Amino acid sequence: MTQPLLPPLEEFIPYLEKIWTNKWLTNGGPFHQQLEQALCSYLKVKHLSLFSNGTLGLVTALQALRVSGEVITTPYSFVATAHSLLWNGIKPVFVDVDPMTLNLDPHKIEAAITPQTTAIMPVHCYGHPCDVGSIQQIADNYGLKVIYDAAHAFGVQDADGSLLSHGDLSVLSFHATKVFNTFEGGAIVCPDAKTKLRIDHLKNFGFVDEVTVVAPGINGKMSEINAAFGLLQLKRIDAALQKRRAIDTRYRMGLAGAKGIDYLSAAGERVANCAYFPILVRPEYSLSRDGLFQKLQDNGIIARRYFYPLISEFSMYRGLPSAAPANLPVATKVAREVICLPIYPTLSDENVDLIVELIINAVRQ
Ligand SMILES: Cc1ncc(COP(=O)(O)O)c(C=O)c1O
Repeated sequence: MTQPLLPPLEEFIPYLEKIWTNKWLTNGGPFHQQLEQALCSYLKVKHLSLFSNGTLGLVTALQALRVSGEVITTPYSFVATAHSLLWNGIKPVFVDVDPMTLNLDPHKIEAAITPQTTAIMPVHCYGHPCDVGSIQQIADNYGLKVIYDAAHAFGVQDADGSLLSHGDLSVLSFHATKVFNTFEGGAIVCPDAKTKLRIDHLKNFGFVDEVTVVAPGINGKMSEINAAFGLLQLKRIDAALQKRRAIDTRYRMGLAGAKGIDYLSAAGERVANCAYFPILVRPEYSLSRDGLFQKLQDNGIIARRYFYPLISEFSMYRGLPSAAPANLPVATKVAREVICLPIYPTLSDENVDLIVELIINAVRQ
């Protein structure tokens, strides 16, 4: 489904030589500092704290804002979204998604708020923006925090600028499968220097100085190797995003009019990152979703049923009242229809056409 963005190996060697010379391997070294600055300027955000992965970013974001009790979130995401709540002893409350965007449906949030609710954790699923205005209005009315799981949303802009500037905090993932990767990595985007400082302490065990620990923080620090790699990756990110957009357009043109195959429209993004290309295999299609998935696999095409199963279907969540399929009809249906097609910068036009042909020919059988 994806191949990681990798620069030529020889270009990474000088970075490694510098690390070997400095002998500064982690704990906020020079590459770490440079990458934080470079990402702030690339993403057009004010403050950002790097992490060793996105999951620890989510766990720490919740801790930084002292979120507790219940948090409203989406079942249609990668399992780390809800796991970050359990790691903080917080009860996830699942709310259904909007059928057009597959993001948390703001119309259904208020009904799920209880006296224990302290925050909303929406996901910009596939990099498509949530309805940030409606979500913020509800949060303001009820005094709730908003932490966006923005793992898919690197580089996405809406009418206001960076999508990452909405809410109280946004959390990115730089995992190998993401648009921008540092092998493993992540970041919390925060609005002010004070919050960043608190987050910097929390990702370093809660240390504020050599002898003072102020919270049960975790080890979430990004190493110098990952940070150096990120700096190198940034040099090619624009070209990589251009390629993704071209592939996205080619899929859309190829699949337009394919009976029973739908794909998502833009959800308010001014600049998209084309992180994924999900299709929805509707009942009118000649094969079932799993039939098409198998057909692609038989032809050497590795697609993914992403997100299936729903988070709410996993054993640690399915006992929650909000996890009942009757509470989540849209997410339940979509999880059984979705296939994410391959999309990555080195995917050739010929292979995109081949995938489109396989899908369309199955229609004609
Ligand atoms: C929506 C979402 N949230 C969180 C994560 C976790 O990020 P990481 O793998 O960097 O821990 C991922 C991906 O891995 C994701 O897709």
